[in-house]
Amino acid sequence: MKIPPEKLDEISSANDIVEVISDYIPVKKRGKSFLALCPFHPDKNPSLHISQEKQVYHCFSCKAGGNVFSFVQNFEKIGFIDAATKLAERAGIRLTFSGNKLDTSNEISVLLEINKAAAVYFSKMLREVRGNEREFVHSYLKQRKIDEKAIEEFGIGYSLNRWDAMLNHFHESGDFSPEEIEKAGLIIKKENEKQGFYDRFRGRLMFPIHNESGKVVGFGGRKLLEEDQGGKYINSPETRIYSKSRILYGLNHAKEHIRYAESAILVEGYMDLITMFRHGIRNVVASSGTALTEEQVKLLSRYAGKVYVLFDADSAGISAAKRGTEIMLQGGLDLDVVTLPPGEDPDSFLGKRGAEDFHKQLKSGMSFVSFIADIYLKEGKLSSVEGKTEFIREVISYIAVIPDKIKRSLFLKEIADKYSLMESDLRDEMEKILRKRKQFPETSVVIPDVPAGKKRDSVEYEVSVNERELLRVFLRGDPEAVAYIENNLETAFIGNSRILKIVEHLLDDCVNHETIELSRILQGFNEDDECVGMIMDAVSDRHEASYFEYSTFDSLLENEIGPVYDIDHARDVIRSLKLEKVNKEIESLKGDPENLNKVFQLIKEASALRKGA
Ligand code: GTP
Ligand code: MN
Repeated sequence: MKIPPEKLDEISSANDIVEVISDYIPVKKRGKSFLALCPFHPDKNPSLHISQEKQVYHCFSCKAGGNVFSFVQNFEKIGFIDAATKLAERAGIRLTFSGNKLDTSNEISVLLEINKAAAVYFSKMLREVRGNEREFVHSYLKQRKIDEKAIEEFGIGYSLNRWDAMLNHFHESGDFSPEEIEKAGLIIKKENEKQGFYDRFRGRLMFPIHNESGKVVGFGGRKLLEEDQGGKYINSPETRIYSKSRILYGLNHAKEHIRYAESAILVEGYMDLITMFRHGIRNVVASSGTALTEEQVKLLSRYAGKVYVLFDADSAGISAAKRGTEIMLQGGLDLDVVTLPPGEDPDSFLGKRGAEDFHKQLKSGMSFVSFIADIYLKEGKLSSVEGKTEFIREVISYIAVIPDKIKRSLFLKEIADKYSLMESDLRDEMEKILRKRKQFPETSVVIPDVPAGKKRDSVEYEVSVNERELLRVFLRGDPEAVAYIENNLETAFIGNSRILKIVEHLLDDCVNHETIELSRILQGFNEDDECVGMIMDAVSDRHEASYFEYSTFDSLLENEIGPVYDIDHARDVIRSLKLEKVNKEIESLKGDPENLNKVFQLIKEASALRKGA
């Protein structure tokens, strides 16, 4: 079940946070705010602080915090949907909703609505297609063993084999303009004529692509007809809501299973994933044939620390698999590489051998070290000293990207034992690589599939003072200050990935709403405790916490004390962030004499920034 955002708003406004928390634990009023013993850690003095005005809670000791949904979720140890359902019941709100109004308040909502309508249309067409076309499509489904359940669960549909089916459908509904539908990627402008559009997807089996929260953001369409000149699969183009480097197909269906299994299985294709689901293997996501990206790894690592990477042994993409391995290791994931017999993909393997053999195959997965060793072995390289040296160097270069020091040591030890080498030699080699990376962080780490301008360091930076301050201005600043941040902040100023995530979310939120509302913002992060913690810290920081302990019980979330977050402050923060970025650039460039000019330039820039320019 999905609860639409407007319903969530209704639920949260009908459930006052103080009243809800009082249902569970005793709450005392102190000044403008409310206090309670924190239920999330052993608490002797009341350190749970509840703001009725902001509808949030925060514990100054254990840092637990959030809105009314997260309180119920954490207290009852239930999922978000269950918590929301409970709160809806508490307030007497019905959760059965029928054909509600379209949200066309901004471009993103329009794109989402169009995709949603298209998904409904495609699945209707799969049911309603008639005549020969029906025979053809439905025999294909049968042949690929796509049953009712899969159709239902994945929202599989069909695009009629016509140039104007989708076009006419939307024309009749009259909800969106052709230009808007074109933006969503469902129709294409005719090239030779002044006006007119045609359907992008014709005669294809349609797989809706959902984002993490379950909204349709695009489609993959599989070719069914021999005469179709297009590729085997056609995907929606990149839009403001669909970026293929940020989507993992099936994640919305699989995420709970991934959490439960504490591991994810990564496959390439739509059909692989669907077949695996049919066989009861549900902790699966598909990369949809693209090289794995850093963003996808981040997404995945929020649900599991371990990934089984599946690919066919005869795949020409061994180097792609290696790159994927590097990105996953870099993202802190543990991984096993699982290969299937030549010519098989998970879909075909399961069809021939069934789930039990598939599980055996998964168990036979090897560590990335053995995986790389295997490649060398097959090339006959491990028997020579040169080949072996090359192999060790390559493996160490992978180990060096692992963020966890202890894991790095364990891997080094494993190799030392396995290949009778001195651990200290291996360590020296790794240190050498690490030093080089530190010196030239931009060039030494290969991150494919990220547009050049957007490329980020692989290094995860600690949250800097300025980044912390940025969040504060964003969340507590006056409208002028927030507007200044909106207009002058560049994401390149931000080094820490979580801060970046929050800031991107806040920027999106600014586009969609007039004012920033804490409880709504927190709703967007109900899966990510770290982000919630950072946000809560920004609205009620430590400095104020100590003030709280020693002098007053007045509300701390009211911002009556502490610095003023006005436009001057916003200017300072942006300037400091810029300076920080320039300094980092200088650090990374100055080792190499070739960069002298550039470094000179940057130093000048930094000094101007320091003077307040
Ligand atoms: P089936 O042949 O239907 O079983 O698909 P498959 O998933 O086995 O196909 P394959 O292994 O060739 O490709 C894996 C994934 O890469 C697919 O699921 C698609 O996401 C993607 N892909 C394959 N072919 C194309 C193509 O021609 N264009 C695009 N954009 N993606 C493709
Ligand atoms: Mn296949």
